[in-house]
Amino acid sequence: MQDPRLVSPAQAEDDAHYEAGLRPRRLDDYIGQDRVRENLQVSIEAAVQRGDALDHLLVYGPPGLGKTTLAYVIAHELGVPIRTTSGPVIEKPGDLAGILSNLQPREVLFIDEIHRMSPVIEEILYPAMEDFELDIVIGQGPGARSVKVPVERFTLVGATTRAGLLTAPLRARFGIVQRLDFYTVQDIEEIVRRSARILEVPMDNAAARELASRSRGTPRVANRLLRRVRDFAQVRANGRVTFEVAQAALHLLEVDAAGLDEVDRRLLLTVIDKFGGGPVGLNTLAAATSEEPDAIEDMHEPFLIQLGLIERTPRGRMATARAYAYFDQAMPGRGLF
Ligand code: ADE
Repeated sequence: MQDPRLVSPAQAEDDAHYEAGLRPRRLDDYIGQDRVRENLQVSIEAAVQRGDALDHLLVYGPPGLGKTTLAYVIAHELGVPIRTTSGPVIEKPGDLAGILSNLQPREVLFIDEIHRMSPVIEEILYPAMEDFELDIVIGQGPGARSVKVPVERFTLVGATTRAGLLTAPLRARFGIVQRLDFYTVQDIEEIVRRSARILEVPMDNAAARELASRSRGTPRVANRLLRRVRDFAQVRANGRVTFEVAQAALHLLEVDAAGLDEVDRRLLLTVIDKFGGGPVGLNTLAAATSEEPDAIEDMHEPFLIQLGLIERTPRGRMATARAYAYFDQAMPGRGLF
């Protein structure tokens, strides 16, 4: 999913290269998500002590929060290689069978967007995850027979933005399931300071905090804003990112104090102005704003819900009192009394 927005949590093409350089390699360097980190630390240490593969792990949560990063960290901590792929790119059963039969012992296989894997591909994964074997069908028709081919004991790390879309049998095969949440401003501030150090961008702490508070609790957004603010500091100031420089840069980029951008504001205003505050169905909202329903649901909405600006109800999306307050508007029926 390509999204040109500066504060989009979706990975832009130029993010990948940049993120690789900033990615922490050890669990100790992974900032925030304390509960997830502690659980994984225990499981990893236990697997290493036993000399066995780590249990299969499902990581879910909004995009941009470090699911891929976590997979790399886990492989590094286990001292094993990692292979990465994603649900939509595995087209033929043979693609996955090929990957599985070439894995090293205890290797990490990372499948991003695992909810987008096709059902036939999923079927191959089941015996591989459960019994570390592939069921290969030889021949066709009545003479067809199935042979079992062993694969190495490996760890599947599956990532998804939508755990609810996973089929029950697939979900049941993950021994460990962890949810990533939006980061606190303090955690993002620490991530910004770490990234600035690695990129050798001179930056004041107040500037790091300002950037963090506008990054939607999302490291990918924070690292992207850091790049833009660095450009601004280089061209319009003496290279140092002070609080004032950060503020001026973010103002120019039209990222507001809460981290909302023009698309967020348009979504909220559509619910408020065109649909009387809602409820409005996802598809209607998508049509009215010319956005994709999936993009609204996966990328824009989670943060708006987190801020308490939008509510997801069985009848559709509703703007909250906070959303009206954000635009300095009175909520219908609440205004005068
Ligand atoms: N980059 C992306 N996610 C991160 C995290 N949790 N800690 C440090 N750097 C990161």
